[in-house]
Amino acid sequence: MRAVDIIQKKRDNNELSETEIEFLLNGYLSGNIPDYQMAAFLMAVYFNNMTKNELLKFTMLMRDSGDTIKFDEINRFLVDKHSTGGVGDKVTVILSPILSALGMGNVKLSGKGLGHTGGTIDKFESIQGFKFSTTKEELVKIANKTGIGLMGYSNKIVPLDKKLYSLRDVTATVPSIPLIASSIMSKKLAIYSDIIILDVKVGDGAFMKNLDQAKKLAERMMEIGKGAGRKIKVVLSNMDEPLGHAIGNGNEIIEAIEFLKGNCADDVKEVVYTIAGLALKEKGEISELCEAYEKIDKVIKNGSALQILAEFIGESGGNKELVNNYDLLPKAKYKMEIFSENAGYIKRIKTEKIGKAAMIIGAGRAKKGDEIDHSAGINIFKKVGEKISKNEKIAEIYYNDDKNINESKDMVLDAFELTKEKIEKPRAVLEIIE
Ligand code: URA
Repeated sequence: MRAVDIIQKKRDNNELSETEIEFLLNGYLSGNIPDYQMAAFLMAVYFNNMTKNELLKFTMLMRDSGDTIKFDEINRFLVDKHSTGGVGDKVTVILSPILSALGMGNVKLSGKGLGHTGGTIDKFESIQGFKFSTTKEELVKIANKTGIGLMGYSNKIVPLDKKLYSLRDVTATVPSIPLIASSIMSKKLAIYSDIIILDVKVGDGAFMKNLDQAKKLAERMMEIGKGAGRKIKVVLSNMDEPLGHAIGNGNEIIEAIEFLKGNCADDVKEVVYTIAGLALKEKGEISELCEAYEKIDKVIKNGSALQILAEFIGESGGNKELVNNYDLLPKAKYKMEIFSENAGYIKRIKTEKIGKAAMIIGAGRAKKGDEIDHSAGINIFKKVGEKISKNEKIAEIYYNDDKNINESKDMVLDAFELTKEKIEKPRAVLEIIE
């Protein structure tokens, strides 16, 4: 078998056999097949897609390129919620303790932010002393105590994804639906859970800019999950405005804690409650999603979800008092208030722009490996559909380094698009696929 023949077959849009895919991926992982041949193959996939069989085999081989983890030691219904990446997305920080308070466990690999999108690891690492589990033993110990098991990606889990992603990054083959689907799902399948719930973000601030693309990605990921014998559900959620009010790291932790104290933005609530509801439904505790609301309200009102978050922070090396004392989070030296230059209804908030405005003041990474300033960030006070007056405060920027502050301010101002006509508040959950 030769790599060139496999590339040619894919280039001519013929279906590859399992043996051919195995030859290609194993050869690439071991170094027998060079980057230039794999790059040509990826480009052929970019143009010609993958069949159902090809995609499943490709993903399973990716998964099996490293360790897989099963948590027999955790005696809970295990949920793995994954977001495809957005702006202001603090759902994991809120959802994990809620699921735990509802008697379930949330075990997952969490990522770091890149570009305009944030990452759960960075948000938790705003907390002084907080360390993510790096081994299964550590994760199981914390998950057994708190119901929350979050682990950072390591080189041992799906190493082939890391290698392929770096190559895709420099060969313009990242935005390929089958390649994104296999990349995400290989990591989901490497960790055993009772249900995978994918939060596929849609809109300006997301990977998938429109509903049609997002549905295609969702369908391909479901196809892989089901093909691998796993339970999987998808929530398509709006990223045509930042989720909630805080965009950054430390400020998102505060918004998450406030949520668990009952002070929540409507859009964050809709996403969190829907995902928690889907988990409860799969567990067999409810038959309709609407039945979940009362149960979730209860664990917020009685403080149990907040208490679990505090315990998780404490078990992970942070100070659990933080949930009642935000001074324990790093604080930026400066604050800039932003006032609207016009009046009207907010038609759109350019989400990628807001994400970038936060990134350039240090809240995000322009490239892998960049340091993050956990105290930097942006809070927006107005959302799509709301009416604002001229000179009304719409946002605050928190920063330590004033190098890019004026650019960031201009970006925030430009991100708010106003209209004279009344605008409906958008739904946060656009669709659910079960
Ligand atoms: N996230 C991933 O993990 N992989 C991709 O290819 C894109 C987004």
